[in-house]
Amino acid sequence: MHIVDLIAAKRDGHAVSADDLHQLILGYTANDIPDYQMAAFLMAGYLRGFTYDETAALTDAMLASGDQLDLSPLSGPTVDKHSTGGVGDSTTLVVAPLAAELGMQIIKLSGRGLGFTGGTLDKLESIPGMRTQLTTNELIAQVGRIGLAVCAQTSDLVPADRAMYALRDVTATVGNIALIASSIMSKKLAGGAQSILLDVKAGSGAFMKTTDDARALARVCVALGKSRGRATRAVITDMSQPLADTVGNAIEVREAIEVLRGNRQSRFVDLCLALVGHLAALSGAAADVETGQERAAHALRSGAGLDRFRRLIEAQGGDPRVVDDTSLLPMAPIVHDIHAQQDAWLATVDTEAIGRGSGALGAGRETLDDVIDPAVGLALHAKIGDRLRRGEVMGTILARSEEEARVGEDAVLGALGWSDRPVDAPPLIYDVVDDAEVRLA
Ligand code: URA
Repeated sequence: MHIVDLIAAKRDGHAVSADDLHQLILGYTANDIPDYQMAAFLMAGYLRGFTYDETAALTDAMLASGDQLDLSPLSGPTVDKHSTGGVGDSTTLVVAPLAAELGMQIIKLSGRGLGFTGGTLDKLESIPGMRTQLTTNELIAQVGRIGLAVCAQTSDLVPADRAMYALRDVTATVGNIALIASSIMSKKLAGGAQSILLDVKAGSGAFMKTTDDARALARVCVALGKSRGRATRAVITDMSQPLADTVGNAIEVREAIEVLRGNRQSRFVDLCLALVGHLAALSGAAADVETGQERAAHALRSGAGLDRFRRLIEAQGGDPRVVDDTSLLPMAPIVHDIHAQQDAWLATVDTEAIGRGSGALGAGRETLDDVIDPAVGLALHAKIGDRLRRGEVMGTILARSEEEARVGEDAVLGALGWSDRPVDAPPLIYDVVDDAEVRLA
């Protein structure tokens, strides 16, 4: 294969063979193909699109670029859950302990926050002492013992994705369904779980701004998972506003602990229970989604989920006392309330702007080398459809200084749209995709 011919073929809209894609990806991972040629190929593909067969070949080639976890020492059912990324999306912190409590073995390989989206590893590392780098042996032993592990992907798993994702990030080629699907599914397949549940977000705080795009991405991911022998399902969920009330790191852990204490009702809680229900049904841990959901709700009320979270923290070297005393988590010095500016209904939220606002306070990063501050963040208690009275406290900023708090407040207020008429709350779950029908170019 001549790499220039391959780039030209993609540029001119011709299909590229699976063999050529394998050579491209493996050559790039081995540093035999330079960034500028891969960048040209990615842009050609971004503009021209990829067929389903090309997407599958990209996925297989990325998978073949590194190791795959062998979960055969586990008795199962092994499950994995993946969110395509959002704002205030700390479902893993609640879903993983509940899934383990229902008898599933959950291996959650998570990432760090980037741009406007948060990352589970950053949130967990706000717990004093918590380790997120586990060796494969530690990971398998921990899941065998307590049913769950939440940790970083080891460097030998899908190295092609790490290199390509970094390149896509700086060449404006992230937002392509085939590239996103092959990136996500190569990592999920390498993670080895028998059942894979994808939480594909749609809305102003997601990669996919519309439910149609989210559905298209979900279909490709489900087809890739199923055709490679994994039980795979996707739920399309709302990200037209932050999912939980809080956005940041320690502040999201605090909210997750409150949820696991069993005395909260919110869209966030409802989605966590639904996700556990789907995982249970998909993996055979429950007869159907509803039964799984009821058992998860019981594990929340009984405190069993919280106990499982405590064991997770203990197993990964964290201070388990945070579960009973959240004041042990890092806390910013300035706590600044945000007040509603008018009597009105909350109609729209620019969720990406809220994520960027939290990032500007220090809770996020623009490049993976930036250092985050686990103590800062924000809370927005109002949801779309809520009626607020002028002066009512609707949120809080946790900041390092009064000045940063004011900038954070402006970011939140600027992200909200109001109506003087009642507004309907958006659905929480738009769709469930578990057929493998694919519509790609
Ligand atoms: N998440 C991923 O893992 N990959 C992408 O390309 C986009 C989101």
